[in-house]
Amino acid sequence: MRVLLTGGAGYIGSHVAVELATAGHDVIIADDLSNSSPIAVDRITELTGAPVAFYELDVRDEAGLDALFATERPDAVIHLAGLKAVGESVAQPLRYYDVNLNATLSVLRVMAAHGVHRFIFSSSATVYGVPEMLPLTEDAQVGVGLTNPYGWSKFMNEQILRDAAVADPTLSVCLLRYFNPIGAHESGRIGEDPADIPNNLMPYVTQVAAGRRDHLSVFGDDYDTPDGTGVRDYIHVVDLASGHVAALEKAPDGVSVYNLGTGQGVSVLALVHAFEAATGVPIPYEVVARRPGDIDTTYASADKAAHELGWRTGKTLQDACADSWRWQSSNPQGYVRH
Ligand code: NAD
Ligand code: WQD
Repeated sequence: MRVLLTGGAGYIGSHVAVELATAGHDVIIADDLSNSSPIAVDRITELTGAPVAFYELDVRDEAGLDALFATERPDAVIHLAGLKAVGESVAQPLRYYDVNLNATLSVLRVMAAHGVHRFIFSSSATVYGVPEMLPLTEDAQVGVGLTNPYGWSKFMNEQILRDAAVADPTLSVCLLRYFNPIGAHESGRIGEDPADIPNNLMPYVTQVAAGRRDHLSVFGDDYDTPDGTGVRDYIHVVDLASGHVAALEKAPDGVSVYNLGTGQGVSVLALVHAFEAATGVPIPYEVVARRPGDIDTTYASADKAAHELGWRTGKTLQDACADSWRWQSSNPQGYVRH
């Protein structure tokens, strides 16, 4: 298939591009580079050996997107473009709702105008709010206990997409709820490149390992978990990416929803120790207060994706730690032009 990846220059999108191209699909990327580098696109081409059509485009620009569709004639869209920093979304709610909702509306309108019916969306485990059950299955309640505009924007996007599919039965919508992506391509050529101080645990850990920051702050050790630190489901980004290929090829018509996670809960300290064991690099840390809005534990049931898409994770936490470190240590400042 010819697949349009919005946000394809970003952390997850660049890995999805490589997995799609490796599976024999043609990849077209539309990204405004607001949180990514054109070097990522060069690296995708380098890894796949296949040309990747790249458009520097804000996908809210419907005229620009329309021209892209006319030229490239995609068969499907994987929509990853959006803003993702939780804390920033609290400070800038209007910007987050504008980008995260209008990008989806624009893509849906242009798809309809060009008769494109297959849409895959980057949703998030954040839509579950405070988990109703563990492990979380796709039928668990969503939209209860959400604490920030970023999370609400994912929840609202899911609703918009369900409504659009009711109105247009030819539209096929697959909602992929990602748990916590970490790791990098095993080549060390593409990976996560945060523009500012990392918000997420793994990029913070790798920057401490690289000496860019002197220690990790562990946000609370008094949660109701085995060691008191928060428990999450960390999924290797290459496994996450292959979940998109499976969804593209096997998701049923209509609306479908899949968790993409490992099914395993890992605490902050367990992740730190796994990183130290995989890399041999010590990570000094200090326990500080809880981060507002954090929950104690979440992890996925990944059974539905296994049964219906035939998708399973293949990489370990140790692989993810080693691969994150290979990316960080071979690109200490991220994507930098030489
Ligand atoms: P990222 O910031 O690396 O990638 C997003 C990409 O979208 C960036 O390259 C950015 O330049 C681009 N973009 C932003 N606004 C755009 C616009 N209006 N038009 C075109 N391009 C635009 O983030 P990521 O971690 O790769 O996340 C990809 C998607 O997955 C996002 O929708 C995010 O919300 C979702 N997600 C991420 C995580 C995570 O932990 N990383 C978890 C769950 C869901
Ligand atoms: C993981 C654990 C922290 C940083 C967020 C979004 C979610 C999704 C993934 C997009 C928690 C602890 C973290 C640090 C720490 N994104 N931590 N020190 O919060 O599970 O999920 O990213 O959809 O929507 O909310 O991920 O990596 O920020 O935190 O102790 O410096 O690490 O408290 O227990 P989170 P995270």
